Amino acid sequence: MTNNLTALPFPVRAAATAASAVLLLGACAPGDTAEPVAGDESPPPTPVSGEPDELTVVDRSLVPGLEEESSTEGDGIDVDVAYPVVPGAAPLTEFLGDATARELDDFRAANPGAVSFAMGWELTAAGGDVVGVRFTQDEEDSEGPRTGYSTYWYDGASGYTAHSTELLAGQAELDRLNEAVKDELDGRDGVDGASVHPILGLYDSIGFNPAGDLVVEFDAGSVAPVSEDRVVAVVPSDEADPLLSDLGRRAKAAATVVTPDFALPATPASPAPATPAPGPESAVPGVLTPRGDSVDCSSPDSKCVALTFDDGPGARTGELLDMLAGKDARATFFVTGEPVREHPLLVRRAYAEGHEIANHTVRHPDLTTLSAEGVDAELRTVNALIRRETGYTPDLMRPPYGATDDTVAEVSAEHGMAEILWSVDTNDWRDRDSGVVSKRALDAVQPGSIVLMHDIHSTTVDAVPSILEGLDERGYTMVTVGQLLGDTEPGTSYSAGPPVTESPETSVG
Ligand code: NI
Repeated sequence: MTNNLTALPFPVRAAATAASAVLLLGACAPGDTAEPVAGDESPPPTPVSGEPDELTVVDRSLVPGLEEESSTEGDGIDVDVAYPVVPGAAPLTEFLGDATARELDDFRAANPGAVSFAMGWELTAAGGDVVGVRFTQDEEDSEGPRTGYSTYWYDGASGYTAHSTELLAGQAELDRLNEAVKDELDGRDGVDGASVHPILGLYDSIGFNPAGDLVVEFDAGSVAPVSEDRVVAVVPSDEADPLLSDLGRRAKAAATVVTPDFALPATPASPAPATPAPGPESAVPGVLTPRGDSVDCSSPDSKCVALTFDDGPGARTGELLDMLAGKDARATFFVTGEPVREHPLLVRRAYAEGHEIANHTVRHPDLTTLSAEGVDAELRTVNALIRRETGYTPDLMRPPYGATDDTVAEVSAEHGMAEILWSVDTNDWRDRDSGVVSKRALDAVQPGSIVLMHDIHSTTVDAVPSILEGLDERGYTMVTVGQLLGDTEPGTSYSAGPPVTESPETSVG
């Protein structure tokens, strides 16, 4: 982060220098040093040993009664999944059982060529009332083998299991960490800095090295080619400490000293809150909610419009994102399976830039022709692909061609998703003429409209600047569907937001 100082004009630079001084003070403040949290009679702490670019590894023999659950149930692929059972941490055990099962389900759903899947674990912290569990995930599919990492943090004081990003005080702190990480990775072999975003899907393995520096590790293939394997960024403690949450500070203490005969308090001091799933309602840093609170479309004074782009991402979706960013406009992308596999970084970028990612099925079938199982497979796979890329689970889907029935509604509801149709159809798939597409959108739009377009067509991307310009001139705010509708009911169908509630035209979704 300090690299940026040289580029700043003098007054800002002076302020930044003052801020650095505060950071240094912060690093020396009481409570930030690696002391055991409990017990005045404890012997002097023994620092843990280990590599500076690795998360701490806790010797399992330091945790009496530590056991392991494992499963090899593969249903056609080789599976070997294990997770720890820490005495006194029943909520953690339950969480890890669910989390490992979901990783396996998502891998299977996202990879038709799945060959094998293994998850092994280490404890990366066991001290005070905090336990850190780091997983190494070895996957193999038709593309070859790949290794990923994820780390969860258990707070024995509350019975809460936290995602890695919850070591940070909030989204602003994760944003600052992301900048520090990009500085660390700058010039590293194969690393694409533009692919590094402050989202849970990337920042799902954060911990500390034995010296107390923050360690962020990225899965093979996530920010550099798979051939570069694991990519790790070590952020020095004086830079990282001011970004930590209370749990983060306790986690750091637990990861940097040896705690002999580690034991959690028998019962949490306070009742365990439910661990939020990484979804639109959670406040986990790196889980960006498409609802947001920056705009209230339910207000009678608001003029909201939701631009939606289906069937992508496409070759020019990156340009489209540039156009939207230039107008501070939000949109919703109803993505399909193959395009997501082809352009995963565009999905990640769109999500990180505040757009909504929603489910438009894998193969774009008429869902009313499928069985419930067939509909389920279509929706499940795209949700898995999106979740593996972003950490976000969509709660909106759009049935291809707008074709829906009770079965589609029921299966969508099972996945927690509302069905989103449209009130303005640009017919851009038929008329490959950007002037026509733009005119159609602008002529029909009203406050609350959901506008249907397809970002796989070059003529549509070319129409976007004049659409944005025209909407801007008319005082519209371009929002996500989630922002337009607010809370939606799973399984319910919506074609416009307030104040419009007209039925959709019959057309091609
Ligand atoms: Ni479509």
